Parts: sequence; C-alpha cells; structure tokens
Amino acid sequence: MKRGTDIAEAARVLRAGGLVAFPTETVYGLGADASSDAAVARIFAAKGRPRAHPLIVHLAPEAQLDDWAIEVPEAARTLAAKLWPGPLTIILARGPRVSLATTGGSPTVGLRVPAHPMAQELLRAFGGGVAAPSANRFGAVSPTTADHVASDLGHDVDYILDGGACGVGVESTIVDLSRGRAVLLRPGGLARETIEAIIGPLGIADEEAPAAPGTLASHYAPRARVIAVQLHDVPRAVAEARTSLGADGVVAVLAPEGAVEAWPELAADLVVRLPDDVEGMAHSLYAALRDLDELGVNVVIAALPPASGLGEAVVDRLLRAAGPRRSES
Ligand code: TXA
Ligand code: MG
Repeated sequence: MKRGTDIAEAARVLRAGGLVAFPTETVYGLGADASSDAAVARIFAAKGRPRAHPLIVHLAPEAQLDDWAIEVPEAARTLAAKLWPGPLTIILARGPRVSLATTGGSPTVGLRVPAHPMAQELLRAFGGGVAAPSANRFGAVSPTTADHVASDLGHDVDYILDGGACGVGVESTIVDLSRGRAVLLRPGGLARETIEAIIGPLGIADEEAPAAPGTLASHYAPRARVIAVQLHDVPRAVAEARTSLGADGVVAVLAPEGAVEAWPELAADLVVRLPDDVEGMAHSLYAALRDLDELGVNVVIAALPPASGLGEAVVDRLLRAAGPRRSES
C-alpha cells in the first residue's frame, strides 16, 4: 500500500483496475473503475461486503449524467444542477457505462459528484466513474481520515490519497428518483430541508423502495455498546450503566460540550465533548467513536441531538450504532 497526494499515480492505479482510497467531503471512499466488473469485484473482497449491496458511482462535475443514468427525470436534473458538487447521492435507472457488478445487479445506480477538490482532481485525471463505498470494513464506522482507512483496510488498498480530515463527517444523503416520486433512503450530509426546498416533500422508503443495505440496523457500529438517549436522560443512563457493568466496566459519555458543563456529578469514566452545533457534531462523530474503541470503552452513552438539519443524520447514525448487532464479533 502506498500513501500520498499523487493524483496521477492514483489515476494510474484506477486505470489498471486497482483500488484507491480517496477523501470526499463526507467520508473516505474506497474507489475502483465503475465500468469494470473485475475492478469493482476487488472492492467487495476488500471490504468483506456482500456482492448484492450496490455502490455509489462518483463523477467529475463535467461528467454527462446521461452516460451514467437513463430515463433521468426533471427533478434529478434540477437537484444535480443546484446541489452538485455536494453530499447528495441520487438513485436513477442505471446507464450504459455502469458495470452490473457496481450496482450489485440492480437496474438502478446511485450517482454523486463530490465537492472535495482532491476527489474532483482524481475523477478528472481518471476520466470515468469511480465506484466507491465508504473505505471501512463492512458494518463498521466510516473513515474520516487517511489513518482510519489505513488501519481498517491498509494492505488491501493499492493507494491512499491523503486529503486530511473530511469536512462533513457523515455520508451523503441518498434520494431515490428512479420510481416517479422522490424518496429519502438515507439522511446524510446534505440537510433534507435543503432538498425539500427545491423539489418538495420527500417520501418515506416503503417495501418497494430499492434496498439500501446501509440502512440496516447494526451498521455504522463501533465495538463498544452504544446507548443513545435524549440529552436529559444522560445522567440516569450513565448511572444505570455504571450499576449494571460494575467497577471494571468503562463507561463513556458522548455529548455536546454545553450540556456536559451542566452535569457536574456524572458517574462516567470518560466524557467526550462534541461541538454544540449539529454540523460540528457530524464532523466529529465517527472519529470520536473510533477513539472510544481504542480506549477500550465498554459502553458509550450518546446524547441524541434534535433531528433537524444535519441532526437527522447524526440521530440516524447513533441509533444504528445502538441497534442490534448481528454478531458479537
Ligand atoms: O458519502 C457517501 O455516500 C460515501 C462517499 C465515499 O461517497 N459513500 C458511501 O457509500 O457511504 P456506502 O457504499 O458505504 O453507502 C452507500 C449506500 C449503501 O447503503 C447502498 O446500499 C446505497 O448507498 N446504494 C447505493 N446504490 C444504490 C442503489 N442503486 N439503490 C439503492 N441504494 C443504493
Ligand atoms: Mg458505508
């Protein structure tokens, strides 16, 4: 594995069918040539991700939407014009340049134009679409630094483009526009309110919505057990965890710093203060969860922010981190 800031080298790796981890404004992606079944197969192998779980295709700002999607509705063109580059993924009918392996066999494809300058330089130098899930092992917390990528996937990546810490910190918002009405599949780094101000209310995913496996409970989970509670319930939840774990258990609190000041008597071993605003919380959330794992914390009591703006994504990820695990390993 090589690591650095050499865009030309990273583009060569992609052209040769290799894997490049790269920064986006949301989280780091694990990229491969979206038009090559063989290249994309390596992503699934490296992540340990089931092959039916579709990947997002990342495009340069200059790319032609109609090369990558077909039957593109007007609403998609409007959102693309107003919100790309940015943390928005649009699900559309799959176009001719997308390999079937990229979409896990699905007739739809998720497309996004990232805002990160290094991602854009890479996409321009490569010249095609780059299929990329978050660059973590399947089910784990997404990486927001090159160090996170190296510690999760180091040997399985050919090149890591190091662009420092990601700005937004949570994954893109996913909107399905492949079935007539606009549906929110995953809240994320672009506030729902911003999208609804342009195309009107977003529907809720139903049985027929394309499956977005990132919406499984137990996704985005650290090793520590996460208990997500309303802000005012934090002291009580800490006391309960303390009692049930006994003296040997390590209990941490993850909460906005303003609130922490108001709890002088917390029975926690460790308190991680997040910024008070939801943008700051989103930015710091995944690094904080990784740090808590490294410190060997057993239980994290996490305070839920209000679910508006980026708060909707923070609440979603905390509830998933707190969700039932499929296995204890
Ligand atoms: O911000 C992001 O979206 C990051 C960066 C790297 O762009 N990517 C990311 O990818 O979070 P991933 O694979 O970890 O999560 C993408 C989610 C998955 O839940 C996947 O199921 C869903 O998007 N998805 C992708 N293509 C889809 C499709 N055609 N239909 C339904 N869901 C799709
Ligand atoms: Mg992911």
